[in-house]
Amino acid sequence: MNEFFKVNNQAGEIQVFGDLRLSSLDKLTAALHREVVIARYPDIVLDLENLASITHSVIPPLVSYLRYLTQQHKVDYSFVQPRNGPLRERLKNLGMSHYIDYRRFDKPNLKSSSPCVMQFLTNGECDTVTDKVINSVLRSAQLSRQHIAALEWAVSEITDNVINHSQSPVGGFAIFNKIKNTNIIEITVADCGVGVARTLGIRDEAEAVAQAVQEGVTRNKQTNQGNGLYGSYKLASASNGIFMLKSRHGAFFVSKGGDTRIRLETVPFHGTIVVCQIDCDQPDLIERGGHLQKPLAFERVI
Ligand SMILES: Nc1ncnc2c1ncn2[C@@H]1O[C@H](COP(=O)(O)OP(=O)(O)OP(=O)(O)O)[C@@H](O)[C@H]1O
Ligand SMILES: [Mg+2]
Repeated sequence: MNEFFKVNNQAGEIQVFGDLRLSSLDKLTAALHREVVIARYPDIVLDLENLASITHSVIPPLVSYLRYLTQQHKVDYSFVQPRNGPLRERLKNLGMSHYIDYRRFDKPNLKSSSPCVMQFLTNGECDTVTDKVINSVLRSAQLSRQHIAALEWAVSEITDNVINHSQSPVGGFAIFNKIKNTNIIEITVADCGVGVARTLGIRDEAEAVAQAVQEGVTRNKQTNQGNGLYGSYKLASASNGIFMLKSRHGAFFVSKGGDTRIRLETVPFHGTIVVCQIDCDQPDLIERGGHLQKPLAFERVI
């Protein structure tokens, strides 16, 4: 693939060129950090005129960080839309334009079955996000309730973590994406909270993400089982899908083939990001996911 991505930042203006995806998010958040947190410009021009493409998964962490900067540093954004017409529409439909400049752009419509980024701040809004994902998938693919049980479980666990653990002042942001020509659904959830290392009380941020995906690891054994991230990661692996947990400098990745990697990244994300792919073509996923190691505790959903 011929991908190109570049960010220029100067005097409160951030210009983005090329293809924006999760792997290029660091460059953009670093530029935002320099202009807002270090140089303290109160008005930021976010110039996406030369943006060529964008993936779904980069949107929740990006808008989460943008809203966080507005809340903590009182910044406002002037949004220069992409020159490319279809891409301009795509940003509107996916809800990104609204979360950059809410005065100019309406909130995306949760009733439509196409994906859009959704903010959630309460348990009730978590359920709304899960419902929207499930209903949209049911409407757009020929799948039974049993086929989407694993997806429903994972979405509600990952969004629940934001409300229960993250202390994010902007709540969480989520999006789903159906991978073309498959029934694999990718969900991405991001928050700008304290991060996994802090809640688990582990100093090493790479060690913290590696621990968080282990069975039974939780910040509170009295109230929680420590199965949400473990189960989601196992379901993604059983789906032959990718899984990623990034929190501050720590990152845990599972590739399509099931290889796992843990890294200490140079650029931190100011909170936590989870990407999880679930294959809804497999109605026995929960049984198979559980049999990869020990059985999962699924009694909360089914
Ligand atoms: N978004 C987040 N922000 C900060 N910490 C998190 C986040 N998500 C998970 N964690 C940390 O990782 C731990 C493990 O998460 P996991 O979902 O696996 O278990 P749990 O939420 O503690 O229990 P369960 O999901 O079974 O109710 C949490 O206890 C918390 O310390
Ligand atoms: Mg949990």
